[in-house]
Amino acid sequence: MVIECMRSKFNLKSNPPGHVAIIMDGNGRWAKERLMTRSLGHKFGAENFKSITRYCGSLGIKYLTVFAFSTENWKRSSKEVDFIMGLFEEYLNKSLEKFLHENFRVIFLGDKNGFPSKIRDLINRAENETQKCTGMVLNIAANYGSKAEITSAVKVIAQKVKNDQISIDEIDETLISNNLYTSNQPEVDLVIRTGGEKRVSNFLFWQSAYAEYIFTDVLWPDFDSKCMDRALKEFSSRKRRFGGMTVDS
Ligand code: IPE
Ligand code: IPE
Ligand code: MG
Repeated sequence: MVIECMRSKFNLKSNPPGHVAIIMDGNGRWAKERLMTRSLGHKFGAENFKSITRYCGSLGIKYLTVFAFSTENWKRSSKEVDFIMGLFEEYLNKSLEKFLHENFRVIFLGDKNGFPSKIRDLINRAENETQKCTGMVLNIAANYGSKAEITSAVKVIAQKVKNDQISIDEIDETLISNNLYTSNQPEVDLVIRTGGEKRVSNFLFWQSAYAEYIFTDVLWPDFDSKCMDRALKEFSSRKRRFGGMTVDS
């Protein structure tokens, strides 16, 4: 009922953004403000991730990509990294049934080999078992960096040229796209970054070439469904030109 209301309010049912990406930033500062450890901030952040994911599914968003852990986040203290890995493990262990129930297809964006084998196995299981789900595609970017992703695509393509499987003339934007972790997915329409920083931090360079960006000061654990509605409303008011002209200009 509430969701139906929201849909009609912002005309999301007829026109939801196809691909929304979120840089879930600000867990550490949220915890600090409450005199908690940074790790506890991640715990609350993980809870919020679960509810925003469900909410996006209910709005009819077809692709949701969330930035959970970057290739640079390994630089953090081992205590914090270990805690985050523990959260991943717990989440993956508990969520498979929920993914299937919600009909979410889960895909990991990032280098899985960087994870301990226990987590890698859980990631593979979640991807395999939700392969046939037809609802929202939930991309979880973990050990993800745009630079690493593009580098790995370049290597695969270079190897194919070297093996005479393709010619240099066959390298085009579609081939590059299809060698990214988001292969066969539509480009990103909207990137939301919580936590107040106004930067991209190595996230989806290629896929966001014409995305709209919304930067909000709200720290990730506080970013609730109302904040999401505001972001979607703001998105719907943007005029996208893709280098061309608007119809009314
Ligand atoms: C985002 O929150 C979560 C990860 C990067 C894993 P942060 O941990 O970066 O929180 P701040 O930016 O320090 O507040
Ligand atoms: C980006 O946040 C990565 C994630 C949210 C997973 P960071 O906190 O790592 O980004 P910087 O260091 O402020 O650029
Ligand atoms: Mg941060």
